[in-house]
Amino acid sequence: MTMIDAAPWITRRRRRFPPEAWAPLLCKATWDETHDVRTFLLAPVDGSRIDHDPGQFMTFQIDTPQGTVERCYTIASSASRDGGIEISVKRQAGAGSAHLHETLVPGATILAFGPSGRFGPVSWPGEKYTLIAAGTGITPILSMLRTAADRGIALDATLIHVSPTEADLIATQEIALLSRRLPHLTYVPIITRGPGASRPSAGLLNSLAPGLADSTVLCCGPQSFMEMVRAAARDAGVPPERYGEESFDFSSPEAEITPAADTPVRSISFARTGKTFECAETTTILSAVKAAGLPLPSSCARGMCGTCKIFKHSGEVTMAHEGGIRQREIDRGFILPCVSRPLTDIVLDC
Ligand code: FES
Repeated sequence: MTMIDAAPWITRRRRRFPPEAWAPLLCKATWDETHDVRTFLLAPVDGSRIDHDPGQFMTFQIDTPQGTVERCYTIASSASRDGGIEISVKRQAGAGSAHLHETLVPGATILAFGPSGRFGPVSWPGEKYTLIAAGTGITPILSMLRTAADRGIALDATLIHVSPTEADLIATQEIALLSRRLPHLTYVPIITRGPGASRPSAGLLNSLAPGLADSTVLCCGPQSFMEMVRAAARDAGVPPERYGEESFDFSSPEAEITPAADTPVRSISFARTGKTFECAETTTILSAVKAAGLPLPSSCARGMCGTCKIFKHSGEVTMAHEGGIRQREIDRGFILPCVSRPLTDIVLDC
């Protein structure tokens, strides 16, 4: 008689995946959501469990023929899931996502860092939500819906999802099923091309979400899309404390300030390798690292993802981050070089 292994079905308490170190995840399964969006089911190789809040993301190291690149992908699966996480990735031009689609197959591994980020209902608690997403920007919202359904949370939300065509909509059938478990969820897909297309605008959002002004608004999509939604929410009277957004569209990175001739220049030293280079007070340390031709992992360059986090042995910086570092980490001496500018000479643990 063939012995059948029951282990995959058994849930055990496991230690936590380390959120502040790179560690490998095993690809257990993949499936296509649309013609260019594929979902990857990933689980820690060491058997640990990934604790995350709905809306958080992880950073991945993708080894491409052109070199290693870091990319952030939001966790789309329920925060109640114990056996791994799902990310849904759109294949785009450029090395990262295309290589992921080609090489991350069941049995392959990938280095991951996180979870990170403060987008979602834990950071933006509300009684009633307007959730607005474009394309794969729906992934953090899917995690929120799936978690609410798993935990019996009476989510009161209007979900507006914008996609080019009906074929590009992700998880429409699943959302219809989830609506049976979330009776106060209203789902409004918007198609922007072909017959029946609509153009996303402030007027359209207001007509589709009449409760916009009284809700907590969470938006995820490309920068230009979020700018339109942000303005519509503001004009409708949504205060900043009820408006959250997230994007991994880094196509328009924060502009570096060109240092003036009299801008003080500080010395940055790497304690372990002994490398030393200069950085003007108006320049980010990450830019100075790159200008010096030195390696330092980074992804968003906006203080969001936490990829570049590093321990600072000494010195003072100014740092304006967007959630990529916790206060207790700052208190312990960590900084995000991508959004840190030196006020004194700095020694980093590198
Ligand atoms: S690169 Fe994302 S926080 Fe620095």
